Amino acid sequence: MQRERVAVVVGTRPEAIKLAPVVRALRDEGDVEAVVVSTGQHRQMLDQVFSRFGLQPDVELSLMQPNQTLAGLTSRALSTMDEALAEMSPRLLIVQGDTTTAFAAALSAFYRRVPVAHVEAGLRSGDLRNPYPEEANRRLASVLTELHFAPTWLSKQNLLDEGVSPDRVLVTGNTVVDALHTLLEVPCSFEGTPIEGVPLDGSRLMVVTSHRRESWGEDLQNICLALLDIVERHPDVRVVYPVHLNPNVGGTVRRLLEGVDRIHLTEPLDYLTFVNLLRCSDFILTDSGGVQEEAPTLGKPLLLLRAVTERPEAFALGLARIVGTHREDIVQEAERLLCDSRAYNRMAGTPNPYGDGRASERIALALGRWIRGESPLLHPSEELGPAAQPPVVGRSPQIPA
Ligand code: UD1
Ligand code: UDP
Repeated sequence: MQRERVAVVVGTRPEAIKLAPVVRALRDEGDVEAVVVSTGQHRQMLDQVFSRFGLQPDVELSLMQPNQTLAGLTSRALSTMDEALAEMSPRLLIVQGDTTTAFAAALSAFYRRVPVAHVEAGLRSGDLRNPYPEEANRRLASVLTELHFAPTWLSKQNLLDEGVSPDRVLVTGNTVVDALHTLLEVPCSFEGTPIEGVPLDGSRLMVVTSHRRESWGEDLQNICLALLDIVERHPDVRVVYPVHLNPNVGGTVRRLLEGVDRIHLTEPLDYLTFVNLLRCSDFILTDSGGVQEEAPTLGKPLLLLRAVTERPEAFALGLARIVGTHREDIVQEAERLLCDSRAYNRMAGTPNPYGDGRASERIALALGRWIRGESPLLHPSEELGPAAQPPVVGRSPQIPA
């Protein structure tokens, strides 16, 4: 019997990291033919992940242009995805998260009457402009989605609150935890990587990433100035900051931090190297979505360089704190972790509320059932247990006033 074709769409680094285990699970399960479609929204950062996970795009749309605009990328993605769908005629299209690729691919599938499955569905910050444009992208994708794979019970609840039928929402855990687990078995080494020359012994290590559009300009400058304050006040602290390739990020970061003693700017790191760096770190400052989900597995405190989060679970458990983008607030919260061991230890706990490493397995199981015309719903013993989830105090914790 001919297997049904399922198109799995990736465009950026986090989508590739989070969908690589799903592709592998679908291929292991064997019920469907999983076809990887790359929009190429990212180029170098996407290729890094493909080669790390041995993933080969079956369809390559090569959309990235230097300093691309949201509208330009969206319109190119919509029309090229439409052509690709016409050629492939998949039974189902899988998108992940909140990028332009995810939204545009979901819309093109809707126009072609191809059902959409959304991985990492139901995250909500409650503020349409923050993160920008991701909160809009994920909401728009939800409207177009047939099967919602919610990573947590809170994200399922967000969807139910918006009127999505409970028989179309499954709680799976976040697939980034699956990806991370595959790398934790690899011994930690920086040989031959951009970290090789960084003297990590005897230093306390802060790992920093930032790239969000809503922070470009003044907020990103504040983040950089805070890093300068921290290394100046603490001679044993080192910062490693892999700089995102978006030119709107690199320009500011390099102007303020290039050549500063104990601040090491690097190119984007291969996923394994980055995960190893996180493992060696004392704590993390980031505005990344994926890094928020990884830190609790590694037991690393996380300070979020944003005003609001759509991933409140670790914050409710006290494993992460929202610090925003004001220079003094960032310095104050970093110094709390550097100087107060009890505050540090309270934030260094586990387990990870975002998943247990089996999300992709659950997704493949449910999709197999859906393709066979059965109910995709998971039995309570198959779903991510509610016990793994903290009681979340508010839907979207905000930066303290
Ligand atoms: C995108 C996503 C964001 C996600 C982030 C992950 C949108 C609107 N934004 O942001 O949600 O958190 O990816 O990293 O979907 N560039 C390169 N090489 C690369 C990647 C980017 O040169 O491998 C440069 C190019 O000049 C490109 C620019 O960065 O035009 C912006 O890329 P784009 O995908 O539009 O936005 P990101 O800021 O990367
Ligand atoms: N990451 C990486 N190399 C780096 C920085 C980040 O592999 O130099 C990984 C990180 O571990 C996480 C993902 O990239 O899994 C997050 O991507 P990004 O911050 O670009 O996007 P977001 O998660 O904010 O959408």
